[in-house]
Amino acid sequence: MGQQIAFHKADQLKVKPDPEHLGFGRHFTDYMLEMDYSVDDGWHDARIVPYGPITLQPAATVFHYGQEVFEGMKAYRAEDGRILLFRPEMNMRRMNQSCARLNIPAIDEAFVTEAIMKLVDIEKDWIPSKPGQSLYIRPFIIGTESFLGVHPAESYKLIVILSPVGAYFGDTVNPVKIYVEDEYVRAVRGGIGFAKTGGNYAASLKAQSKAEELGFDQVLWLDGVEHKYVEEVGSMNIFFKVDGEVWTPALNGSILPGVTRDSVIRLLQHWGVPVKEKKISVKKLFKKAEKQKLEEVFGTGTAAVISPVGFLKWEDRLIRVGNGEIGPLSKKLYETLTGIQTGRLEDELGWMQEVSSEETAVAD
Ligand code: COI
Repeated sequence: MGQQIAFHKADQLKVKPDPEHLGFGRHFTDYMLEMDYSVDDGWHDARIVPYGPITLQPAATVFHYGQEVFEGMKAYRAEDGRILLFRPEMNMRRMNQSCARLNIPAIDEAFVTEAIMKLVDIEKDWIPSKPGQSLYIRPFIIGTESFLGVHPAESYKLIVILSPVGAYFGDTVNPVKIYVEDEYVRAVRGGIGFAKTGGNYAASLKAQSKAEELGFDQVLWLDGVEHKYVEEVGSMNIFFKVDGEVWTPALNGSILPGVTRDSVIRLLQHWGVPVKEKKISVKKLFKKAEKQKLEEVFGTGTAAVISPVGFLKWEDRLIRVGNGEIGPLSKKLYETLTGIQTGRLEDELGWMQEVSSEETAVAD
């Protein structure tokens, strides 16, 4: 892999969106990072180029067999002006785990992190700074070989795009309503559930539409074999506070190993709050709720951060969690995580990496 990162300057820069109405994933910055892979050259030709359409052959493997992986990360602007990334090494490691499952050649994690930092540095004026806002970073890799045989591609493209974002659910104070899906399944062990790949999200869309038609925000997936054990939510991992203990489904091969999930477990351990990764039956959860023992439910994710869950519906039963509002632990986790991420709180666990400014070479 070459160690140079070329920079191709845009003729004109865009007008930035109104920071009051960012939404999630609707605006994109002036530049993106691109790299190519070929069997002869490996990953090569890292370049920061103006954001824009890419050209692919209609027979490119990504269009037919879905050979694709992606990541989600965020850059934050601290009050003292520093630009911070949250645990980027975890995302790069997971990207390679996803690549391994999808038979995509591994990336050089340190080099791609450096290239992402360079891109973020160039785009630092796009990082919004109101509470709950950040610059969302979406790295992805696609199979580009023009070939209709079902076979791993021999060429790939890595692209990283940036999007200034607000809260994923629009209003983080308003707890989300979750529908426990008992018809469709997302993943089974041995499949691709643990990988961050588009196919898992494609498989979720039908159920997501069904949940929305019924007035819910997201789906809670059950295990794909027995339909008894909770796994994850559409765009988040899930946690339950039950009778003083915090439970989250154990990683079993069909659940995404979330970076925020891991961070929440580590924060809880750091605070001495009992936290268990285990098999959690939906029946038991609903029983606990009937006995008023289900104190809080929240989702975790890079996009969602900490998203309190106010209602859960399973078959013909609907439960309201606590008083339907954000619980104290969810609130503390949200404030601690966002405090660390934006440099307001001390980074005791050493999670933040600063993007340092340096001159970027101009190739043309
Ligand atoms: C993230 O939290 O970064 C994700 O990738 C979830 C998403 C599909 C919006």
